[in-house]
Amino acid sequence: MDQLTSTLSPAVSAFVSRPRHLFIGNRFVPAADGAVRATVDPSTGRHLVDVAHAGEVDVDRAVAAARAALDGEWGSLPAAARGLLLARLADLVEAHAGEFAELEALNSGKPVTANEYVDVPAAIEHFRYYSGWPSKLEGGTIPVIAPDTLCYTRLEPVGVCAQIIPWNFPLMMAAWKLAPALAAGCAVVLKPAEQTPLTALRLAELVVEAGFPAGAVNVLPGDGRTGAALVAHPGVAKVAFTGSTEVGREIAVRAGADLKRVTLELGGKSPNIILDDADVPAAVAGSYEGIFFNSGQSCVAGSRLYVHRSCYDQVLDGLVAATREAAVGPALERGTQLGPLVSAAQYHRVRGYLVDGLAAGATMAAGEVPPVEPSDGYYVRPVIFTDVTPDMRISREEIFGPVLVVTPFDDIDEVVTLANDTPYGLAAGVWTRSLGRAHRLAERIRAGMFYINTWAAGDPAAPWGGVKASGIGREMGRANLDAYLEVKTVWAGYGRP
Ligand code: NAI
Ligand code: MG
Repeated sequence: MDQLTSTLSPAVSAFVSRPRHLFIGNRFVPAADGAVRATVDPSTGRHLVDVAHAGEVDVDRAVAAARAALDGEWGSLPAAARGLLLARLADLVEAHAGEFAELEALNSGKPVTANEYVDVPAAIEHFRYYSGWPSKLEGGTIPVIAPDTLCYTRLEPVGVCAQIIPWNFPLMMAAWKLAPALAAGCAVVLKPAEQTPLTALRLAELVVEAGFPAGAVNVLPGDGRTGAALVAHPGVAKVAFTGSTEVGREIAVRAGADLKRVTLELGGKSPNIILDDADVPAAVAGSYEGIFFNSGQSCVAGSRLYVHRSCYDQVLDGLVAATREAAVGPALERGTQLGPLVSAAQYHRVRGYLVDGLAAGATMAAGEVPPVEPSDGYYVRPVIFTDVTPDMRISREEIFGPVLVVTPFDDIDEVVTLANDTPYGLAAGVWTRSLGRAHRLAERIRAGMFYINTWAAGDPAAPWGGVKASGIGREMGRANLDAYLEVKTVWAGYGRP
């Protein structure tokens, strides 16, 4: 830490200068067994600050605090008051936007400028969007057949929700999860990823400042075991998870056995298609950002690029030239475009795919295999593979790093088959000037989201999520509220006149 503190703002410097605790019932408390886990600055590989690490006892405490909130002050708040609290939280995050951008860069390796333009505003917009919803969650009156009977529905919060989030957009994911659950009136136990708990813990401080009643929000830093304990806890009514398909499957199995409600936002290997009538410079720029934003650590990364043979060379040359100019560097440097990968584990995982791709016979048209051991940060320069076949692991598996595979195609039916030949179905997209071809492809490709002449567009009001092995359910918009609400049907007989 010592070397960095001089370049940090006083607020962030203070935040990382002493151990951080769990957040249970509006109080910051150590883990019951005293366990802590180190956080690391991915830009240097150096130790940052120790954070309390929640175990089973802490899961019990947090679920009990959430339950008590539902049975107490939080559960009896009028809907409009819930909305006001969310609006205040949005304002507070906005007031501390610079601090969040910096803290996120420090803990996750995401470039500070990206946090300023994308992550922090998106988190604010999310809280603000959902702050309008509580007072609009109306049930209905049902025109039933029986005479002298009133039948109506109430929308009630599902209960205590376990929310487990990954490290690639730590603050934004916390906002995506918390905002709809709180708007619906649920109480939450949020588990940030073990690598990146800091912005969620700073957010917890603002939850208190905003005036949320104790227990509405609880934050438990911990690892997969903490997550598994939370999923299995009998007091949890619903699980929301973003992360790997592998863990998503485990959670679905467990939630299925317990008959808990579950939404999953999982991996992807999203196909991006450039047709012969595309605006090539725009397609190159968009496809570059589509895969390399956040160093490829994005669920909707456009990691498989299919280019019509007529413009293949032009597109490839453009992409290779752009990768050569990419400013890969420390997340806190303002000139950095691509930060380091989040962890040594992710570095080794991505590196393994690069070695595997070369061994399988693919050509590395841009980039290089980084050293066996990272030194001074987990940096991987952007890589483009050509001469790939659909059976190669680099074509099939989610790499979650700055790695693009590029394949030429000749006709639309062929590229539709290639695009759909994946277990995943998160995002897909096309670059074309033809409206008809664009919308026809939007119909034919199996994915939860489809982009036309853009990539990774998102808005709190627009549903987000995948099909097939990319998940179950949708986040954002009205759709996500349904995941946190139960419908209760009430029957009332009028009795004798
Ligand atoms: P992961 O799925 O293991 O971790 C994500 C979250 O789940 C973390 O909070 C983690 O502590 C928690 N978790 C892990 N095991 C759990 C379990 N058994 N029960 C409950 N919670 C559990 O992802 P990991 O290992 O960090 O990354 C591996 C790969 O997963 C990446 O290379 C990428 O391919 C994929 N991934 C996809 C993400 C997405 O946004 N779709 C986000 C993160 C990872
Ligand atoms: Mg894992």
